[in-house]
Amino acid sequence: MTSFPPGFLWGSATAAAQIEGAAFEDGKEASIWDAFARIPGAILNGDTPDVAVDHYHRMPADVALMKELGLQSYRFSTSWARIRPGDAYTNQAGLDFYSRLVDELLGAGILPWLTLYHWDLPQALEEKGGWANRDTAYRFRDYAEVVYEALGDRVQHWTTFNEPFCSSLLGYASGVHAPGRQEPAAAVAAVHHQHLGHGLAVARLRELGAQNLGITLNLTNAVPRDPSDPVDLEAARRIDALNNRIFLDPLLRGEYPADIRADLAEFGLDTVSETGLVRPGDLEIIAQPLEFLGVNHYHDDQVSGHSLGGGGADDAGDPHGVKGGRAVSSPFVNAEYVTFPLRDLPLTAMGWEVHPAGLRTLLVRLGQEYPTLPPLYVTENGAAYDDVVSHDGAAADGSEGAEAVHDELRTSYIEQHVAAVSDAIADGADVRGYFVWSLLDNYEWAWGYGKRFGIVRVDYDTLVRTPKDSAHAYAAIIAAAG
Ligand code: NOJ
Repeated sequence: MTSFPPGFLWGSATAAAQIEGAAFEDGKEASIWDAFARIPGAILNGDTPDVAVDHYHRMPADVALMKELGLQSYRFSTSWARIRPGDAYTNQAGLDFYSRLVDELLGAGILPWLTLYHWDLPQALEEKGGWANRDTAYRFRDYAEVVYEALGDRVQHWTTFNEPFCSSLLGYASGVHAPGRQEPAAAVAAVHHQHLGHGLAVARLRELGAQNLGITLNLTNAVPRDPSDPVDLEAARRIDALNNRIFLDPLLRGEYPADIRADLAEFGLDTVSETGLVRPGDLEIIAQPLEFLGVNHYHDDQVSGHSLGGGGADDAGDPHGVKGGRAVSSPFVNAEYVTFPLRDLPLTAMGWEVHPAGLRTLLVRLGQEYPTLPPLYVTENGAAYDDVVSHDGAAADGSEGAEAVHDELRTSYIEQHVAAVSDAIADGADVRGYFVWSLLDNYEWAWGYGKRFGIVRVDYDTLVRTPKDSAHAYAAIIAAAG
């Protein structure tokens, strides 16, 4: 039996660079992903986000589809490079697009849930050092203010960053995400500067009247392969530190944890000084109270500190070194000694384990470990599978033979994870909403168009949208819970 408290919010999520396309239209300039996609070998098949699923031109129809599915909320991101291309001036046409989107959503009775940064830094700012440059945090605050001034009268829920883990460590350390740098010091600086940008933006938006502010983190349980083996425990500690605590602790406790300060001392994380990475007052700015924490969760990680040779699964099948949403070869996690042996569980097309109980554990554990934890929203959860199109669907006009996607595995993934959220709530976790990733098949970053997460299929030749069985199942979940 699943049950949800009254007012529990049901939605779906996307991100600007993954769906909009129109990468160079109406005044938008290059983001780091537009630039990264042009580096040979950076993206599977050389795919670019130039067109993506053309949401920029099809937005009203996409919102109509959301309404048809009964979505109560839509989580999307604004593109900094569309709104403040090069950061020097505001591009009104870019703001206007989001203003139309918000009006369309409100007109359809759908609550807009806005994220300011889903990885697409203007390339012009990267050329000034990107997130390794402290000034970028202040530029982020100014961009946040411009967006708030345009949309704050209609948008209530504001998320600063989506998964800073990826846009700092994957972008600047392992280099598998844009901007593709492999510079440990820059990566640690990027972590701190994104925290700072978050705090500066929260303070500014609150001054301007925002009342629902939060951030979204990708969190996993790092499960030691053998909990009685100190080597596995140490490997799991490091993964938990880099994946979870380096983000949670500054935000919710106002400090970097002692073990992380020690591990990363050489990068300046252990001291506070006027000229260093962490400056006096930074941690106070970062740790302001929030109204919500967004949790993105797809899978756990079993972690071992032993080289498992051929006996354990590694990152095979993952040409970009992204596994579990993070790098296995981060310079901070000596890849030779940290492995991710798969358990005997089904896998998605990303090679990620399907283990819904992990989501329940995570949501419950957060409340136990962080006394100042704000209400939680699962802001992403979903699965990629290799979909098969059949021709046995019913068209809107009742005729038969329309395209259909019988994605039983994705449907069951969603149903099981929704049940895990209900179980977590029964265990005491304060979870207030769930957003499935993703509404539409889209540009899966370094995987290009090679991995499909949508509950709605997009034909990349015609850009036609077809709700998959999982979309219908999700609509039924919403209707039943509502
Ligand atoms: C997390 C990211 O926020 C999103 O952009 C991505 O597509 C999904 N995970 C799936 O990998």
